[in-house]
Formats: sequence, C-alpha cells, structure tokens
Amino acid sequence: MPSGKTIDADCGEYLIDVVENAGVPVQQHCGNVAVCGWCRMVVLQGAEHLSAPERPELLLMERELFTPNERASCQAQVLGDVIVTTPYW
Ligand code: FES
Repeated sequence: MPSGKTIDADCGEYLIDVVENAGVPVQQHCGNVAVCGWCRMVVLQGAEHLSAPERPELLLMERELFTPNERASCQAQVLGDVIVTTPYW
C-alpha cells in the first residue's frame, strides 16, 4: 500500500526482495544485514504470516525504536499474505 499492487512471493522469500523484484523501491543502507533499519516497513495486515524476528532484527528493532507493527523487510520472510507500507511510498 498505497500502490495497491499485489505481488506473488515464494514462501520464505525475504520481504525486501519480494517488493524490490516487483519494481517498488525500498530504502536500505547496510546490505540487508539488520544494521541500518532503513528497510523498515509497517505491516498493515498479516503480521502472523511473516517469520518471527530473530536476534539481529530484535536488537535492531530495539535500537531503532521500531513500533510494534514495524519489521525490517530484509529480515522478515514471507510465509503468507501480508499488506505492508512505508512512509515514503
Ligand atoms: S537493509 Fe539495513 S536493516 Fe534492513
């Protein structure tokens, strides 16, 4: 959102890759290693269909003050239907 694009993803694919492969730009600065936090996305629906955050992402979320509905798209793997947005789309 707000593009309204529906993008097919393989189960386990990283959220950032799914979005970028569809031609939607995603900010990132650390090469997808859970350091910068620039790739954060707001999960509007389907948070339960993303992989659980692991230690590197949990540390990033705490350090960068993620809100409870934000995930690092370079760390979250898509397991089912999700709806996401960013402030810059
Ligand atoms: S790209 Fe840097 S934390 Fe995701």
